[in-house]
Amino acid sequence: MKNPPAPNRYRTRWAGDLSSVDVGEEVRVAGWVHRRRDHGGLVFIDLRDRSGLLQLVFHGLDDAHDLRSEWAISAHGKLLARDAENVNPNLATGEIELAVDEFEVLASSPTPPFPLDEDVTVDEMLRLRYRSLDLRREAMRDAILMRHAIVTAIRDTLNARDFLEIETPILTKATPEGARDFLVPARTSPGNFYALPQSPQLFKQLLMMAGYERYYQIARCFRDEDTRADRQPEFTQLDLEMAFVTEEEVLETTEAVMSAVFAAAGFPVADPPWPQLRFAEAMARYGSDRPDTRFGLEIHDVSDVVRGSEFKVFESVLAAGGVVRAINAGARDLSRAQQDGLSEVVQRFGAKAVAPIYVDSDGGFSGNLAKFFSPGAVEAVLRELSGSAGDLLLFVADQEHVAARALGALRLELAERFGLIDRSRHDVLFVRDFPMFEWSEGEDRWTAMHHPFTAPVGDDFTEPAKLLSRGYDLVCDGVELGGGSIRINTPEVQEQVFKVIGLSEQDARERFGFLLDALCYGAPPHGGIALGIDRIVAICAGRETIREVIAFPKTATGVDPLTGAPAPVDAGTLRELGLRTL
Ligand code: AMO
Repeated sequence: MKNPPAPNRYRTRWAGDLSSVDVGEEVRVAGWVHRRRDHGGLVFIDLRDRSGLLQLVFHGLDDAHDLRSEWAISAHGKLLARDAENVNPNLATGEIELAVDEFEVLASSPTPPFPLDEDVTVDEMLRLRYRSLDLRREAMRDAILMRHAIVTAIRDTLNARDFLEIETPILTKATPEGARDFLVPARTSPGNFYALPQSPQLFKQLLMMAGYERYYQIARCFRDEDTRADRQPEFTQLDLEMAFVTEEEVLETTEAVMSAVFAAAGFPVADPPWPQLRFAEAMARYGSDRPDTRFGLEIHDVSDVVRGSEFKVFESVLAAGGVVRAINAGARDLSRAQQDGLSEVVQRFGAKAVAPIYVDSDGGFSGNLAKFFSPGAVEAVLRELSGSAGDLLLFVADQEHVAARALGALRLELAERFGLIDRSRHDVLFVRDFPMFEWSEGEDRWTAMHHPFTAPVGDDFTEPAKLLSRGYDLVCDGVELGGGSIRINTPEVQEQVFKVIGLSEQDARERFGFLLDALCYGAPPHGGIALGIDRIVAICAGRETIREVIAFPKTATGVDPLTGAPAPVDAGTLRELGLRTL
């Protein structure tokens, strides 16, 4: 802890901060019974407070035999050096112990529903149900402390750069980040609803138009979408925005903030500037717009070199305007079942199958497909894929976007399966030059790839498919940590974007009239980014899900086992709100 506690009747020092230099001192500590060992005449307790653990020794104090796990106690005594053979090198305070002469039980506890003093796997529902106990465990404490250190680093960096922290509303109108909104019925206006913000996007733009120049907020966002390991219905962003800037200043600010964050978390990454990858290149080489570059297995386009083979599948895909792409998986020997497993991976992305070809010892192809390729084609493929004897080459033929994503997923699967990811390495990069729009098959219309307030590169809207945006993402180890853009700052361009995504003039006015109005009054060029704090903490702390770094998260099904939310409300409350349930 940074400061000693103000001495009171419970404690004079933090238990975990004591060390050999304090030997001989009389101190009082308070905390929880973490672990106890009863040796008859002697009782040993590891006492836990927020700062750490300290061994207490009770000699000739009869009541000490009654102490049990998780009782809250306060104890006084003299700090002693442990005998050399009793030093515990695994404990920060392992060289000392407190010889207790007097103690007080402040609160007792039944046996907790799961052990808090060991790193054992406990059912997550149980952990969340008893979260106040779960949060006492070391792993959770470490995550929460790291989260605080990260948010502090964010605030320090941005405050030093003249950013203002400004709050924006939680009860608001729908914001279009692409997910479903959470709605709150408005009692005073029956039949009407507030929406919880999916992000502060429009408010931060209004703040730029209002002249605040540099804004940030540790903002809570709400999205009614399926929860996953890296998604919660409510989550936290570092949201920031700057006026009179181009992409370069926003990216440089992001680098400054994130370097400070990584340093605060002790997470080793290269010094900025960080690499910038074009979206098209990320998709071509890694099959993903959040590429994990910690391992090779890059994707290669072999359309031109296999064109003219006798293999009907490749030929018909190429004739239909598709592509043939491949990964050199290296020297692997896969069983039939394992190969089928790889096809299942690509099928999840709409591809039909993986075509495997082995390179034999004299540099030719072996396997069922070998006969379809001329020696010239074999040689060209091997050159493109740097293939050599024993290598397994995996091909996918499909329309470009399908082949890219399918091989991107295959690449990750191979890396996991063969343990190719160096877990001590961390790669951070930006992806830029995203397409402005993407075609939504389901909705049969163009949608904004980032959000519809993102500025396009240029102003030629005649071919929406070709237009690039001024958006960017921050990616670390294959995880999207953040995204942002330079925004549209004229009503004309904003209206054009709304038109492409099929928003009628009337709808645009109804939903975003306040923005269109503000855009008329000298809206400065502006841009920003939002970084997912839960994901940042999870990656820095090496946790599998963001639930491990949120004090009170929801389960994968969006339920809170602690409070029982969401819960029914009584008929009277519904009536007051003018609502009826089905
Ligand atoms: P975007 O929607 O890309 O951009 O979100 C930014 C970052 O927020 C995190 N994130 C989430 N984290 C946990 N659970 C979720 N459900 C969730 N959804 C998103 C991710 C993501 O990269 N207003 C724009 C930003 C801008 O343009 O400035 C926005 O919200 O880490």
